[in-house]
Amino acid sequence: MSIQFHESSREFHLYNDHISYIIKILANGQLGQLYFGKRIHDRDSFGYLLEIAHRPMSALQQDFRFSLEHVRQEYPAYGTTDFRLPALELLQENGSRLTNFTYESYRVFGGKPKLWGLPATYTEKEEEADTLELTLRDKLLNIKLILLYTVFSGESAIARSARFENPSERPVQITRAMSMSLDLPDSDYEWIQFSGAWSRERQVKVRRLEQGIQAVSSARGHSSHNHNPFLVLKRPAADEFQGEVMGFSLVYSGNFLAQAEVDTYQVTRVMMGINPFSFTWKLDRGETFQVPEAVMVYSDQGLNGMSQTFHRLYRTRLARGVWRDRVRPVLLNNWEATYFDFDEEKLVRIASAAKEDGVELFVLDDGWFGARSSDSAGLGDWYANRERLPDGIKGLSEKIEALGMKFGLWVELEMVNPDSDLYRAHPDWVLQTPGRTSSQGRNQLVLDFSRQEVVDYIYDRIADILSESKVSYIKWDMNRSITECYSTAFPADRQGEIFHRYILGVYSLYERLIQNFPEILFESCASGGARFDAGMLYYAPQCWTSDDSDGVERIKIQYGTSFGYPVVSMGAHVSATPNHQLFRDTPLDTRGNVAYFGAFGYELDLQKLTDRERETVRRQIAFMKQYRQVIQFGTFYRLQSPFEHNIAAWMVVSEDRKTAIVGYYKILNDVNCEFRRMRLKGLDGDRKYLVEEKDEWFYGDELMNTGLITTDASSGQAAPGEEFCTDFWSKLYVLKAQ
Ligand code: DGJ
Repeated sequence: MSIQFHESSREFHLYNDHISYIIKILANGQLGQLYFGKRIHDRDSFGYLLEIAHRPMSALQQDFRFSLEHVRQEYPAYGTTDFRLPALELLQENGSRLTNFTYESYRVFGGKPKLWGLPATYTEKEEEADTLELTLRDKLLNIKLILLYTVFSGESAIARSARFENPSERPVQITRAMSMSLDLPDSDYEWIQFSGAWSRERQVKVRRLEQGIQAVSSARGHSSHNHNPFLVLKRPAADEFQGEVMGFSLVYSGNFLAQAEVDTYQVTRVMMGINPFSFTWKLDRGETFQVPEAVMVYSDQGLNGMSQTFHRLYRTRLARGVWRDRVRPVLLNNWEATYFDFDEEKLVRIASAAKEDGVELFVLDDGWFGARSSDSAGLGDWYANRERLPDGIKGLSEKIEALGMKFGLWVELEMVNPDSDLYRAHPDWVLQTPGRTSSQGRNQLVLDFSRQEVVDYIYDRIADILSESKVSYIKWDMNRSITECYSTAFPADRQGEIFHRYILGVYSLYERLIQNFPEILFESCASGGARFDAGMLYYAPQCWTSDDSDGVERIKIQYGTSFGYPVVSMGAHVSATPNHQLFRDTPLDTRGNVAYFGAFGYELDLQKLTDRERETVRRQIAFMKQYRQVIQFGTFYRLQSPFEHNIAAWMVVSEDRKTAIVGYYKILNDVNCEFRRMRLKGLDGDRKYLVEEKDEWFYGDELMNTGLITTDASSGQAAPGEEFCTDFWSKLYVLKAQ
């Protein structure tokens, strides 16, 4: 790994064994982008990659062949001969938005600096990464722009961010500040976005890049169910296993924009950052603004190659804390078992049954506090409801621990019901625009987390409970989007900051809690998957993937999520049938076979199952305990997409390649169909593997090249004793090296 500065050509070459990234200081002092892709040899100059020509209709700078419109840039601005959407924009006192940031100096150092107040990837040792810091300045405004690039030694990944500093006398308004911008020399790509809705998150959507702007974004105050701050560009011929792919991931949980603009000459400008819509930030004299981080990954091993890089990096150098490397407890959450209808006795009975079957962590969901007997009251009143829980959270948590389990608790700290003591005491503590009606979502308003006193108050309430009770896990929910975003605590010219200040407040509360309660496992949640993003993973190493707990729907949701996020980060539970979101019946085996590929648990009352089902549950829990190290920390491969096929498959392979587990899912049954096989990945070709379900061994190269035979009874008439398939049928194959 290295970062070279070539003095004579004024070029920076960042590289490791896998990738190269090349930046050039242009003749006008601005930064040009020359290359991002597979590692190439270093040389004194890559100047030939800067192609300029006198084109008709160009607006030119002094040199008659030089127009920024035709130059690939690093962190572009609009208005001085470039007409594409820019990475930055500063509104100045005189009304101008023109800027001209030119190179001033650079610094290279080992490791990676922290980003103040924001989530970011990190290093544990200096040797793990090198960082290039480029300082630019707009001389007229005397504003500094610092661009950071970190190249990780073993990974095809570069982390980027930017910082603005104002040493001048005058304020400026930042109206646009992207985390990354990358100009690629052509547009021969397919764009993949991960979009959907509540209970239908991160569906894979692919389309060809076209001239013009294509974008996904959120203006909801959270990254959202609807779009994810993660984007993939792939060559049309690339697939899961081969070909060139680039992934772009924003380490941020608020409003975002991810876009690609293909210009007249087929140059593709990719950018990602805080959504400029509804954003301004006043940068006063002496102030600094830190832009969130974005991570760019290059793969020449197809989509799986890209995902595996994100998985490793995010699992080991974004997630933090004692739980980062620990297998996750098998949990049971009471939400779908009871909703709001519970008392302590009922909970203890549910937990006892769970304990009998091997569950390790009992999680008490919504409804334990204040007057919260439905979702219309009590939110914000973080003291136990003594009618339901006579001994409070302390008493209940002790009873659960006495059963030999850990206890976990649900909270929704950012919200308040108007019908709550907190709101009655502090009606001004919510985000609200003067003179306007405040829209409610799920009967609740959003607390103004841009205000320190609000965050402090909430911290104190929750810290009291955590200090006196035996809480090992927190599920941190967030159940509505932000509307009428305005803080009465800030002046008019700072209202554009509130969305961002809100999320900074959320991050600061998370940070305080994880620092002061380091043993607690945090699971983030926002009505399921509305904040499944890289920003949250820095604080909570797992996230409730979706409120849709249907086994079949979850195949798509987990498949889509796996493009950018590790298996261990996906909360995945077996729930009751008929499913509460879809009213669908799926076999218990299938529900388990899907949920295994995540942070596994149950979302039902086990007492309501038949003896046979309980037996299955016991088997599932024992299986998960035996294999969770491999599943949660092994290498994950998507084999076949549920978005394209009736049969979906994925697999994990242990680090030593001695164990592999294949999940194979047939959505609808079919009859008299073809003989089937599934080509596996990541095995050691020279080893023999016993496929336990077949009680037969095969060489790794057979399984990877001829494939695992998966033909089932539906290919003809089932022979006596043969297992019949049904709709929503699935099978798990465990492979063990001999
Ligand atoms: C939404 C979450 O996603 C659910 O799992 C549950 O915790 C409810 N909120 C509780 O209100």
